[in-house]
Amino acid sequence: MKILFATSNPNKVEEASAVLGQSGHRVEQLLVGGVPPDFEEPKELGLEAVAVAKIEQALGLIRGTEFEGSAVMVEDSGIFLDAFDDWPGAESSDVEREIGLKGVLRMLADGRQRGAEYRAVAIVSDGAGTWDGTGVCRGRISETVRGNQGFGYDPIFIPDEGDGRTFGEWREGKNSEITHRARAMNRLAELLNSPSR
Ligand code: IMP
Repeated sequence: MKILFATSNPNKVEEASAVLGQSGHRVEQLLVGGVPPDFEEPKELGLEAVAVAKIEQALGLIRGTEFEGSAVMVEDSGIFLDAFDDWPGAESSDVEREIGLKGVLRMLADGRQRGAEYRAVAIVSDGAGTWDGTGVCRGRISETVRGNQGFGYDPIFIPDEGDGRTFGEWREGKNSEITHRARAMNRLAELLNSPSR
């Protein structure tokens, strides 16, 4: 199935393409008038609510265009720090912009717990049916910023199922089974490929 991914983040498109491609789907970035959609996000309500708001807006945006009736996908994700009761979650991109990765490391400097997880919620809809998948990637926050691969918090996130490197140090790319996004999208692929769909 061709899936139009409504996101402005090329890293997410690359990862989704690799994961959903393995299940026979083709992912392309949704561009309306040549630009990715810019969504209103109720971040204070959490990832799930943001993802639902994004899919409603994406379907509204393609109504009456050449894309109407196509399968559209949205995703919302964030990092959740154990030390701060799951903050920043849906506000991860704002926090990253405001205090940077070094700011996050400073907040954990006084011996706080370093456990963390990435979470993702992905939704696909073709206007008639809607399917969703969630995924978690558990890990810990490094002591220093390491590596420049990936995006966002990757240079300070060490996945539990890795080899001790931060995702920022994964030169081979992180389109693997273990990421929150891959897990959410593999679940979506299961649902989309199920005979009862
Ligand atoms: P969204 O685009 O509104 O879903 O915001 C996601 C934000 O969460 C990103 O800007 C990053 O700050 C963080 N984030 C989510 N997933 C990842 C990831 O795979 N790597 C690094 N940071 C991530």
